[in-house]
Amino acid sequence: MAAAIKAVRGTRDILDRESPTWRFLEATAARVFSLYGYRELRTPIFEKTELFARAVGGDTDIVEKEMYVFEDRNGASLALRPEGTAGVVRSFIENGLDRQLPWRVFYKGPMFRYERPQKGRYRQFHQMGCELFGPPGPMADAEMLMMVMRFFIDAGLEELVTLELNSLGCPACRPGYREKLLEYLHAHTEALCGNCQSRLERNPLRVLDCKNPNCKEVAASAPRTVEHLCTACGDHFQGLTGHLEAENIPLTVNPMMVRGLDYYTRTVFEVTTTALGAQNAVAAGGRYDGLVATMGGRATPAIGFAMGLERLALLLDERACPDPATPTVYVVAAGEGADLVGLGLTEQLRRLGVATEINLQGGSMRNQMKKAGRSGAPWSVIIGEREVDEGTVQLKQMATGEQQTLASEGLAERIAGRLYDGS
Ligand code: HAM
Repeated sequence: MAAAIKAVRGTRDILDRESPTWRFLEATAARVFSLYGYRELRTPIFEKTELFARAVGGDTDIVEKEMYVFEDRNGASLALRPEGTAGVVRSFIENGLDRQLPWRVFYKGPMFRYERPQKGRYRQFHQMGCELFGPPGPMADAEMLMMVMRFFIDAGLEELVTLELNSLGCPACRPGYREKLLEYLHAHTEALCGNCQSRLERNPLRVLDCKNPNCKEVAASAPRTVEHLCTACGDHFQGLTGHLEAENIPLTVNPMMVRGLDYYTRTVFEVTTTALGAQNAVAAGGRYDGLVATMGGRATPAIGFAMGLERLALLLDERACPDPATPTVYVVAAGEGADLVGLGLTEQLRRLGVATEINLQGGSMRNQMKKAGRSGAPWSVIIGEREVDEGTVQLKQMATGEQQTLASEGLAERIAGRLYDGS
């Protein structure tokens, strides 16, 4: 036998048995996002490398170490998108959408990062996210967080997650904070990991969320962003927490949260869980009031977030999600002439919208009834030689074993009617 080819490390198949969970998550999110006025935007999976370098930031792990970059046949440097916001901002500017604010969009699809794979962390993973352009005030942040939490409630996951919040300030107050932080970190340089030491001057905030235990210890006593905000940023943060408290949305302020992308201003947030080990963020985002201008558009405040579908699917775990492909009726056809009647009936039932499966491999009545049981269909239709001769079928309710004889005339309509009115 020829050697079989395996999937690329860090990628995985979403198998058909998992797809009900995925469809449930995607449908729940799309429904909730629509309730808040978001329409779907689909951007390309690859863009110019420069787009991500400029938007996400040249000093970030994502751009420095994790992007899948390639040259096309013309020598242009392109990258598989590591996240969705950069492409949405490009589209916003390119399509002149700043003339119809507010602009609310959601997106879903694969993202690519060359990270070390582990449970809940992949090299191709899927996000669903939202971006809101226009409103600058805390009311917009509050509305977005209400929507995020509405999704977790509707997905039945709210018990498993915590909303964590921080503010990173703005170009007016961040430089002053940065100076204070650098001063503190300089006094503790030897204790920091090599990575943090090397990017200390370029990006001191990153030390605050380094996972190295020594860095964590240093970070624990470091100056905090929320204590060094300018009046406008302080008011914004207070306004937001006030709105969330009024709506009884539980939250934790986490002064160590800085996020791994450079575009954030003011509000940043993560929805975390303790159920997935190290990969604890299931959704994350924040405000990025400077990004549109950085990317060459007219300055426009914006805020957004994205959630990781693999992690949400892991959280849903074994919970049964509705599976549209589970048959409502399983047709068992055994004996002379039964195949013909059975396949005709199956097709008529499907035409009436009843998910129906028919045994395609022959076999004894007993054997076929076992398959009917395994299919999960609540009803089976049994057609044997006697039924063919008499022009009837047996309709069996699988849970009770109750069986009735029905005449073939107008059968599909009568079965469909019976299933729906319960008689
Ligand atoms: P992010 O924090 O890099 O933010 O990713 C958002 C979510 O995507 C994470 O919380 C996690 O659930 C999921 N995720 C990230 N990397 C992986 C991975 N390697 N494997 C599995 N899941 C992963 C962003 O991407 C921002 N664009 C969010 C945003 C939108 N901010 C403003 N607007």
